[in-house]
Amino acid sequence: MQPAVQHNRTAIDPLALRRAFGTFVTGVTVITTRDADGKPRGMTANSFASVSLDPPLLLVCVGKNAASYPAFATADSFAVNLLSDTQTGVSNLFASKSTDKFASVNHDVVHTGAPVLTDCLTWFDCTAQQRVEAGDHMILIGEVQAFGTSPSAPLGFCRGRYAQVKDPLPPGWLSSHDMIVGYLIDAQGGVLLVSDGHGGWVLPSAPRRVVDARLPVAGGGELELVPDDTFLYSVFDVAGHDSGYLIYRARLAQPHDALPLPEGLCFFPLENLPYNEIASVEVRAMLRRFVREHAAGGAYSIYMDSHDGGRIASVGAAQPWAAQVQS
Ligand SMILES: Cc1cc2nc3c(=O)[nH]c(=O)nc-3n(C[C@H](O)[C@H](O)[C@H](O)COP(=O)(O)O)c2cc1C
Repeated sequence: MQPAVQHNRTAIDPLALRRAFGTFVTGVTVITTRDADGKPRGMTANSFASVSLDPPLLLVCVGKNAASYPAFATADSFAVNLLSDTQTGVSNLFASKSTDKFASVNHDVVHTGAPVLTDCLTWFDCTAQQRVEAGDHMILIGEVQAFGTSPSAPLGFCRGRYAQVKDPLPPGWLSSHDMIVGYLIDAQGGVLLVSDGHGGWVLPSAPRRVVDARLPVAGGGELELVPDDTFLYSVFDVAGHDSGYLIYRARLAQPHDALPLPEGLCFFPLENLPYNEIASVEVRAMLRRFVREHAAGGAYSIYMDSHDGGRIASVGAAQPWAAQVQS
């Protein structure tokens, strides 16, 4: 079969061009924002493209005839929600002229105030960075302020039809979404923090998820921990990162002033933690809880992140598993 060829600018048939554009395989997104009354607005769009990592930029093209165009043309923020292969219904709904597209989909506010679809494949919550007039569309460039992703299979689109991605999760992909294991090390009312090299402080981290009685520290050496006093303290995600965090609470086996600490490590007294130099809001909140629980006599609890703001549970003294197992 001869390929269809069109050269002459004046002779370009828009329908044929649309069909040619449609041979480019894309994902499917729902772009969302709020209109001047704060009402959520959204439409299906496959004109999404990633633009830049630093600064983090993306783009979508919004048709000027769309009913939600005025909202996208003026709002300070918007979200791009990539759909999973179970969401053809959501795609059809947001491609329709329905006046209440948000009634049947779960959505939430994450960072900018733009509606984020809770159950999608991946979302990007953006501030509007630039708008470029481009024929019958506007190129809307957004700066990503927060994002989240899941291992679901993506919904594809090609030649006007939805498409499936064969083998959507390459082997080893999930391991790049590892947990970061951090240690909240208490030594006589002080907490050990590590310099992040940019004027801030972070918790010391471990290469393994299994709790160890010895924690290797940057610059060489190890800290010896009391195994019985080392236990899970917090499990959470950090906005903008796809790694989860597992934090263990631990106690040092020896007095911290007897330790030769490598450069970049420092014990801060609990009443004088450098909150302003700790970038993660989640880590700051966890340290404040630790300080409160320490002051209340050491009745430590475990925190678990969840969509409704997290849960906390009290735990009794930890015991060796072997003592519990009946042979
Ligand atoms: C798979 C798919 C991709 C689409 N991509 C875009 C797009 O990138 N830009 C656009 O303006 N419209 C796109 N549309 C069309 C809009 O979703 C459609 O015009 C919608 O009715 C607009 O909603 P509104 O008029 O309520 O704003 C797409 C539709 C589908 C089904």
